[in-house]
Amino acid sequence: MMKPKPSPFSGSKKIIVTVIMFTAFLLSAVFSHAEQLTEKLTIDRFVSAETCGDCHSTIYDQWQNSMHHLSHNDPLYVGVSRYMLSGLTDSDEIAESESCVKCHTPVGNITGYPEKTSDDRNKVAEIATKGIQCDYCHSATGADKMFNNGLIVSPGHGEDDPGIKRGPFKDSNSDYHQSAFSEFHTDAKICGTCHNVSHVSFGTKLETTYDEWKNGPYNNTTDEKQKITCQGCHMHQRPGIPATASTPRPLNKGRAADDGPIRDHIFTHYFTGANTDIPANFKTDEKRDMAIERLTHSADLALDTLKIKEGKLGIIVTNSGAGHYLPTGLTDVRQMWLEIVIKDEKKNIVFSSGKLDKDGYITQGTIIYNTVFGDGKGHPVLNISKAREILKDKRIPPKESVTEHIVFQNNNFKQLNISVRLLYRSAPQKLIDLVLGKGKNVLSVVTMKQIETTVNL
Ligand code: HEC
Ligand code: HEC
Ligand code: HEC
Ligand code: HEC
Ligand code: HEC
Repeated sequence: MMKPKPSPFSGSKKIIVTVIMFTAFLLSAVFSHAEQLTEKLTIDRFVSAETCGDCHSTIYDQWQNSMHHLSHNDPLYVGVSRYMLSGLTDSDEIAESESCVKCHTPVGNITGYPEKTSDDRNKVAEIATKGIQCDYCHSATGADKMFNNGLIVSPGHGEDDPGIKRGPFKDSNSDYHQSAFSEFHTDAKICGTCHNVSHVSFGTKLETTYDEWKNGPYNNTTDEKQKITCQGCHMHQRPGIPATASTPRPLNKGRAADDGPIRDHIFTHYFTGANTDIPANFKTDEKRDMAIERLTHSADLALDTLKIKEGKLGIIVTNSGAGHYLPTGLTDVRQMWLEIVIKDEKKNIVFSSGKLDKDGYITQGTIIYNTVFGDGKGHPVLNISKAREILKDKRIPPKESVTEHIVFQNNNFKQLNISVRLLYRSAPQKLIDLVLGKGKNVLSVVTMKQIETTVNL
């Protein structure tokens, strides 16, 4: 900073002093603001979920062993990220494979470690290993982009000075922390900034849950009563109440804090999606059962047997429960498929599709709802760091249906027994075998819907 020169004009001294004082005031204001902006976000500024749980015990129990809690330690995530990192030489592909920690270990990443996915997992601070946690979400003030985690997070200064916790209440009071109403927390955007994933170099849309919802019927309606945010389904769910579009989503009366007032609705924090295996790995049957309840209220199945005599069967699958595509998220990995078995009056198989082979792999010709990424030259890729294009996108938008046309040889049957199941699992068994070791983990398959009927011809 330049020193002001002493003025030769003694008469204007007073004015000059005032100007200098004013300038100093301006500069100090600018500097303290700049200091605030550049102040490093250190890990000790975050308060552990256990501390929050001291007063918010119900919410803590719901969040514990949720996919958010497990986002850093999830064995499938750890396995897949290792697999993705191996053997890459293209810098654009490496950049993608190093970007996972931004969402999966957000508290660590935002405070400087890990910067990259390949950074030493043993050096990650204990608190950051707890994934997407209370103080991270409740210190968020907004988002600067709606993909690849654009959350702006402003935590307090640690356990003794936890700062402002933002949430849905306008009249909330705690002796421990300041509270503030935050419209952002009531908006799907707080979820969407992470639930939209783009390839960092190629821009390929890898996950689009937020966009699917944003462009879909649960957002685009003039009837306020028909609008449902992410929170409206996922933060209304509790055991026995799947809270989907096809089931009631009743309010959850209770207390936000153990010694807080009774309120009409407390948003639940299970964050149940469709994953039945990872939470169960961490010994929580409750969350597995809740995922099954959600999946079994996601879709409807119907048969069109009008042309069955000609050897034609229609199968109609409707997305009746999800606020986004079915399936959504990581749909190059997720598997939702139809198992179809048609038998004649002598129990001979007339048509069969979608049965797993002896290794648990899906067989050729199966009708599967998923996405397939390509390398830019039309070849499918398993490693998403190489995803330069979308080769296939066969999923069902919210409130929409698809009809599958099955054709079989008509041999003057007298009777046909038709069995159709809509099945789901979180990943191909082949991928599990590849990243976690062959035959070590067998993923469970959930029956989302099934129909069995006998038609007399
Ligand atoms: C922008 C945020 C974001 C980034 C970056 C990100 N993910 Fe994810 N990841 C998610 C979300 C959201 C889900 C849950 C989606 C779902 O359930 O379908 C998820 C789920 C997963 C799962 C599924 C886990 C399970 O148990 O089913 C795997 C595996 C995974 N991510 C791997 C990775 C890898 C590897 C990277 C880095 C190349 C990465 N992710 C980068 C947001 C992100
Ligand atoms: C993924 C982000 C996220 C995480 C992680 C999270 N919350 Fe929340 N929480 C929210 C949102 C969003 C709302 C408000 C939902 C709305 O208004 O639509 C909320 C609401 C609340 C409320 C107000 C009462 C209620 O539930 O309606 C409290 C208290 C709260 N959370 C505490 C916690 C605690 C304690 C933890 C950790 C055990 C936690 N939250 C973890 C996002 C999160
Ligand atoms: C000493 C007890 C105590 C601790 C520890 C505590 N809280 Fe709270 N918190 C409360 C009480 C009491 C309320 C008011 C509840 C109400 O108004 O219904 C509250 C309210 C909230 C709200 C609602 C704010 C609003 O305006 O909507 C959020 C969010 C919240 N806490 C998050 C957290 C988080 C995150 C932590 C850990 C960093 C935490 N709390 C730790 C007692 C505590
Ligand atoms: C109308 C209710 C509803 C709304 C709104 C809704 N969801 Fe879902 N969600 C579901 C149902 C039902 C499932 C289970 C079926 C499936 O996997 O799609 C699900 C599954 C998921 C999954 C797991 C997908 C998988 O297979 O791994 C994620 C992640 C998810 N939702 C996130 C979101 C986000 C983020 C939003 C808001 C942008 C949202 N949901 C809005 C009902 C809803
Ligand atoms: C900081 C980024 C981030 C934010 C914010 C976030 N999520 Fe997630 N979410 C993830 C990641 C990463 C996963 C997957 C963790 C894993 O599988 O390892 C996930 C998993 C989930 C799942 C479980 C998916 C399954 O396969 O079962 C649901 C449901 C979900 N999130 C809903 C929400 C909702 C609702 C919100 C907003 C209130 C939200 N998320 C906010 C990153 C985020």
